[in-house]
Amino acid sequence: MNLLLINGPNLNLLGKREPIFYGSAKLEAIEADLRREARQRGARLDCFQSNSEGALVDRIQAALEEQCDGVLINAGAYTHTSIAIRDALLAIALPFVELHMSNVYSREPFRQRSLLVDCAVGVVSGFGALSYSLALEGLLQYLRTSDAKIKSGYGLGS
Ligand code: DQA
Repeated sequence: MNLLLINGPNLNLLGKREPIFYGSAKLEAIEADLRREARQRGARLDCFQSNSEGALVDRIQAALEEQCDGVLINAGAYTHTSIAIRDALLAIALPFVELHMSNVYSREPFRQRSLLVDCAVGVVSGFGALSYSLALEGLLQYLRTSDAKIKSGYGLGS
């Protein structure tokens, strides 16, 4: 199983940025932990962060050329604004989980709107660095269950 983790703008500042919302762990540490967790569950995780919307779209599109099975995405502020990232996720047609470290539903009203969530397998919000692990767990369970359903013919009209 090959997975892709996408982090959007300002998440490179984790560890320094608004610790009340985002805790003290750095992005590199979160990525390293998640790569290890993925490996322990028999999956490979590729990690990418950018502050630029175009670079995020390019990286998502590149998944089309890879043997990628699913995506974890913390699109940061682009969650609330980016039709381009939504379209890229729809274009690659891979299952994805939206995640946030903070509980976006307890914050400003503009954070309570996501342009991605209605296309996502699910969303995890509010558990700090643990949101990444929970999202990984959810995506792996989803992929394994849907794979099993396809293999057994369940859901294919039989
Ligand atoms: C965030 C929440 C977003 O509203 C914000 O713009 C971020 C981080 C989170 O992880 O809680 O950059 O996605």
